[in-house]
Amino acid sequence: MNSISRLAAVISLASLFPLSVQAADSKGTVEVVHWWTSGGEKAAVDVLKAQVEKDGFTWKDGAVAGGGGSTAMTVLKSRAVSGNPPGAAQIKGPDIQEWASTGLLNTDVLKQVSKDEKWDILLDKKVSDTVKYKGDYVAVPVNIHRVNWLWINPEVFKKAGITKNPTTLEEFYAAGDKLKAAGFIPLAHGGQPWQDSTVFEAVVLSVMGADGYKKALVDLDEKTLTGPQMVKSLTELKKVATYMDADGKGQDWNLEAAKVINGKAGMQIMGDWAKSEWTAANKVAGKDYECVAFPGTDKAFTYNIDSLAMFKQTKDADTTAAAQQDLAKVTLSENFQKVFSINKGSIPVRIDMLNKMDSYGFDSCAQTAAKDFLADAKTGGLQPSMAHNMATSLAVQGAFFDVVTNYINDPKADPEKTAKQLWASVKAAK
Ligand code: BGC
Repeated sequence: MNSISRLAAVISLASLFPLSVQAADSKGTVEVVHWWTSGGEKAAVDVLKAQVEKDGFTWKDGAVAGGGGSTAMTVLKSRAVSGNPPGAAQIKGPDIQEWASTGLLNTDVLKQVSKDEKWDILLDKKVSDTVKYKGDYVAVPVNIHRVNWLWINPEVFKKAGITKNPTTLEEFYAAGDKLKAAGFIPLAHGGQPWQDSTVFEAVVLSVMGADGYKKALVDLDEKTLTGPQMVKSLTELKKVATYMDADGKGQDWNLEAAKVINGKAGMQIMGDWAKSEWTAANKVAGKDYECVAFPGTDKAFTYNIDSLAMFKQTKDADTTAAAQQDLAKVTLSENFQKVFSINKGSIPVRIDMLNKMDSYGFDSCAQTAAKDFLADAKTGGLQPSMAHNMATSLAVQGAFFDVVTNYINDPKADPEKTAKQLWASVKAAK
């Protein structure tokens, strides 16, 4: 999208924001900007809305459609610039610090609730550091997603004569060939930049391992970004792309997930929010679908933590501090953590819960995710997702998105030149 059409989208979306209807007996309103708009995501966020309303507050929904959240972030910026930020917004990773450094986030509003609810004990330090600014909580973490998953329809695999889930890139290509030959879409994929980079980072992780991934996509090391392993990753990415849905250009991730669910496609590379679509379609993990680590990445876990950051409010704003505090309290409560993540496809962000997942009725995918999260945290296998705003600034992420998407779409693109271009763009955006 060019800058003018992007601005037009912002203006039209901003004007669509629903008016808040606060009941006379409401204890206060909280407006929440988020991008949870697919069927499964909506089912999850409705759990939060219901709990806030049960506590007597009014929920003003600021949903902005668009997977991965770039449209939501554009809307948020335009509202902040015009002095009208929402009460809370879905912001992630290093971006939380950037927002906090502008002075727009509220460093006081969560002081008491985080103390009363013992957040420092409930959360891993890595997580609490992300949502604190200079020692004060400015956001509440909601859940943990794993990004490096491969979703499989076993019925389609069977029809295509595939007897084993792929664990290496070679097996992945062999499965893709069989699916193609049997008339299926091998890989459901929407060609939006964030989805292209979700696949790119999975391939980098597979080729380079967690250490190489960290050097390239987290530390932004020049040698690694331009070296032979990156050239190999880009070469493999081009091969993976040959299996992507030919009708997937610009397609939303959930519409592509539906193709796997409905038996038109065999696989999808996507974070575990994809599971929310399977759940919403009443499908059961391990029976109707399989979740396996993207081939070659079973010892690693690219994480993506959703958080709700609290904005300072003007006197005449709808959102009140009491409502922000209730939202924060509800978010880390045990029951919400369970019900939300079951609907969302994620795992709880509370350490105490990750250690006893089976007692909450989580399915096999979530149990594997929790087990791997805890194990990979000890080995260095746990790495922040670049494609989901956890590893770099949004500017650097944008540089990756542009180069990766151009590379996938350019039939003449050269992996060696592209690796050099990656570094040049990242360096300029740093
Ligand atoms: C968010 C998820 C969301 C997904 C698709 C990710 O970046 O972290 O919560 O479900 O995008 O929209």
